[in-house]
Amino acid sequence: MVEMEKIVSLCKRRGFIFQSSEIYGGTGSCWDYGPLGVELKNNVKRAWWRDCVQNRGDMVGLDASILMHPRVWKASGHLDHFTDPMIDCKVCKGRFRADKLEDARCPQKPSKQPGQHDACALTEARMFNLMFKTFMGPVEDDAAIAYLRPETAQGIFVNFENVQQSMRLKLPFGIAQIGKSFRNEITPGNFTFRTREFEQMEIEFFVMPGTDEDWHQRWLDERFAWYPRYGIRKENLRLREHEKDELAHYAKRTADIEYLFPMGWSELEGVANRTDYDLKQHAQFSGKMLEYFDEESKQKVVPFVIEPSAGADRGTLAFLVDAYREEEVKGEKRVVLNFHRELAPIKVAVLPLLKKNPRIVETAHKLCADLRKRWHAVYDDTASIGRLYRRQDEVGTPFCVTVDVQSVGDEKSAADDQVTIRDRDNMQQIRVPLASLTAVMEKLMAGEWAQIHGQHGLARN
Ligand code: GAP
Repeated sequence: MVEMEKIVSLCKRRGFIFQSSEIYGGTGSCWDYGPLGVELKNNVKRAWWRDCVQNRGDMVGLDASILMHPRVWKASGHLDHFTDPMIDCKVCKGRFRADKLEDARCPQKPSKQPGQHDACALTEARMFNLMFKTFMGPVEDDAAIAYLRPETAQGIFVNFENVQQSMRLKLPFGIAQIGKSFRNEITPGNFTFRTREFEQMEIEFFVMPGTDEDWHQRWLDERFAWYPRYGIRKENLRLREHEKDELAHYAKRTADIEYLFPMGWSELEGVANRTDYDLKQHAQFSGKMLEYFDEESKQKVVPFVIEPSAGADRGTLAFLVDAYREEEVKGEKRVVLNFHRELAPIKVAVLPLLKKNPRIVETAHKLCADLRKRWHAVYDDTASIGRLYRRQDEVGTPFCVTVDVQSVGDEKSAADDQVTIRDRDNMQQIRVPLASLTAVMEKLMAGEWAQIHGQHGLARN
């Protein structure tokens, strides 16, 4: 397993993720996605949305606001229960989660956990609410208090009736949402794994009471199978059932999909059976009945809810970690991110073999412009071809197209009107007519390298 430092360093060096406000010394646990990071994360979110919303007949989407009526958080239980026990050290001023002391290190003596070093002076644990508080409008008084949402889920619950009625939905159906959530975590860390501002990709799937356990299992299976579909190795994923004393206040059963991150097995996504808790709470606090009329039984029911809740940042980090490879090629180290084609930030790089040859450069620019109409393509002529390949390998670009003298011809020989395509993973090359480049790329993006290589393969150099 690759160390997190290598991922952090690659992310900065190659424009994936930077520390927030770095020129001011950085803001703890906040990260900015750079040009390639934003492409990668958008691709993760796009794949999720397509698979969980657009490709299913029983799902619709929503984009609710981050600031909501403060009563929402009373009803949901977040004001009363969304707390972590916090402990301070009076000597080193370290701050720790009381329930996670065994995972923490004493800042003065990192070989020990807080409280085990002679100089430690820990306070009693006190409960700390994780919601960020702010004020709506110009007056900073209690009536103006608002919270940054700690989960996107509540925006879905309070819109249950709007969505169900406007779209005339029948049970079972789900509402999906991708958006920012905020938690004032006591101990953020491990790069983008635990931050105070993060993005969630959540589904609330509403079902008839009594069918909830079956639907829970179906969603668990579906979500567990999703990550390997985009390249995560199966051996790096596992399911972990929550113990009874660990279950959230709303949950009947929860299982986490865990990934083997560099710091160990950790939660990637939670899949919970939230029962009818949230709809009933909001009905009670808002005075609006949040029910569903079942045509068959001619009765009103409060649906049960199955919630697959994934982190877009955690998912992106897992895809990055899992894609990282170091290999030796011709005596040199090659770093490759072997992203799934759908997730790769850049799909194809166009590289002119000689940047001083105007015909090569012109053809390469034109090719790149054509490819860009369909995929995220880049042009690069800022180094030798070997270095350009390595650079694209390191950011996970699946294909490189090179234009050479043969492609455009010179005074000695006519143009063959062909270009070379190189595959990132096996470094094999194929030579294809310029006119069919887009059609060939379609097939390569669909995963047909082996077939195309059979027809157009070149000896490896
Ligand atoms: N609505 C249910 C809910 O929010 P959760 O297990 O607290 O459940 C769901 O969060 C997912 O959101 C997690 O599995 C994780 O991927 C992501 N997540 C939660 N807290 C996070 C944090 N501080 N930083 C990054 N991602 C976080």
